[in-house]
Amino acid sequence: MARLKQTYPEQGFFGIGIMNNVDELNIGTLWRSAYILGASFIFTVDKRYKKQTSDVTNAWQRIPLYHYDTVDDLLKNLPYDTPLVGVELDDNAVEIESFSHPHRCVYLLGNEQSGLTKEAITKCHRLIQLPGSYSLNVSVAGSIVMYDRAAKLKR
Ligand SMILES: C[S@@+](CC[C@H](N)C(=O)[O-])C[C@H]1O[C@@H](n2cnc3c(N)ncnc32)[C@H](O)[C@@H]1O
Repeated sequence: MARLKQTYPEQGFFGIGIMNNVDELNIGTLWRSAYILGASFIFTVDKRYKKQTSDVTNAWQRIPLYHYDTVDDLLKNLPYDTPLVGVELDDNAVEIESFSHPHRCVYLLGNEQSGLTKEAITKCHRLIQLPGSYSLNVSVAGSIVMYDRAAKLKR
């Protein structure tokens, strides 16, 4: 049987999740945005999630939520040829305006209190930041990243 050599970059996928989340409302809000903005899955690292009310679209019925115990566990289970993109205000982060989103990738956000750990940042294959000198709410930050991705890939 002939091998399928052609790739279809416009048909990529992405997942998005929060490490060590502190406020469950953020997961529900992120889940809702993720479903609407085209994510294939969302996830938590470290802390598990209990369903609550900010997900009014019942996104849990549409895209799956996975759980990983650690960032290493997440890395070990990344889909083939799919980089981990950290999202954090950091001196080494690329500004999102100039960032080309990989067709397949997984975005990792930090928690409300302490953000992504230095260790997690070093494990990300790419690191991006949003404009501004102060941190946004984590589900707002994730939603902007997904919007930027959708807008750029559409062009
Ligand atoms: C409220 S912030 C964490 C703030 C934390 N107190 C700190 O100073 O690092 C929660 C998460 O939202 C994301 N985030 C918020 N604002 C961001 C920005 N301007 N650029 C990139 N990521 C951002 C990051 O993933 C961050 O870990």
